[in-house]
Amino acid sequence: MKTKEIILVIGACGQIGRELTSALRKKYGTDSVFATDIAAPETVPASMEPYQKLNVMDTVALESLMESKAFTQVYHLAAVLSANGERNPKAAWDLNMNSLLNVLDLSVKYKVSKVFWPSSIAVFGPNSQKLNTPQYGVMEPTTIYGLSKAAGELWCKYYFEKYGLDVRSLRYPGLISAGEPGGGTTDYAVDIFHSAVKAQVYTCFLKEDTGLPMMYMPDAIRATLELMNAPVVNMSVRTAYNIGALSFTPEEIYSEIVKQMPDFKIAYQPDFRQEIADSWPQSIDDSTARKDWGWKPDYDLQSMVEDMLENIKKLSGADCGQTSGTAVLV
Ligand code: SER
Repeated sequence: MKTKEIILVIGACGQIGRELTSALRKKYGTDSVFATDIAAPETVPASMEPYQKLNVMDTVALESLMESKAFTQVYHLAAVLSANGERNPKAAWDLNMNSLLNVLDLSVKYKVSKVFWPSSIAVFGPNSQKLNTPQYGVMEPTTIYGLSKAAGELWCKYYFEKYGLDVRSLRYPGLISAGEPGGGTTDYAVDIFHSAVKAQVYTCFLKEDTGLPMMYMPDAIRATLELMNAPVVNMSVRTAYNIGALSFTPEEIYSEIVKQMPDFKIAYQPDFRQEIADSWPQSIDDSTARKDWGWKPDYDLQSMVEDMLENIKKLSGADCGQTSGTAVLV
């Protein structure tokens, strides 16, 4: 039986990857967490070590890495998000689906104990219940990103049932962190802070009353670690768990920021991302996650905004996401 965890993170330079890699290293030790992404090593900060360039679509390279180390856990975070996915749907489908199948196949072959793969609120669509969207119900996503996440969830369940692979997944809401986001529809809730601290007017690409489910990154990272460490017998969901935290509109987050930065101004210029946002839930019923593994968010809108403003002010240019512009980001 494997005792020491040896962990592979794929997509370590993305918005989630940077923070999850660091949290996993705090928990399991730096050398136990092997970071990979498509960015060249010289563009990645030294703090990412041990790091290797990896294109997850390169099955031969992925297999040779997985053969060379007895990974016990794999976190596969590389994906094309909702807004970027609509610019080239077939390429997004190809990357999102084939990379997942590569990881699942090789994880079975090399007897990985646990796999994490993120899903999203994008699995829901215009016919889903808008408020308090339940764990089970109508999905019918309309973005290629949502299609790939909905299909991917079913592949995860299939590999669990067919091969006993312990794949676990969360339907992340829009994730808010000081680091660069990855080309999604919820990115406005990160961009707005950068404009606020630079004293620039923020032009929002969604309408002021567009409500969406959101989560502050520390909650998302804790949710991921708690899910992965929960006893296997508690896992009643083998597709992906709904998890909720905050729900707000652009106007509501703006009002909260203005409390601290009274001169900050916002303008609205909705683009193609409005239609995507309108197809998604406004809030999420996460009662199954709460019951199965004790999920509970810490941050509300006010505490998230206060912490974000502080962090963005501190943010230096030495961040992995800013140096790896070509990285595949989640
Ligand atoms: N943040 C993602 C996006 O906007 C949703 O999971 O694409």
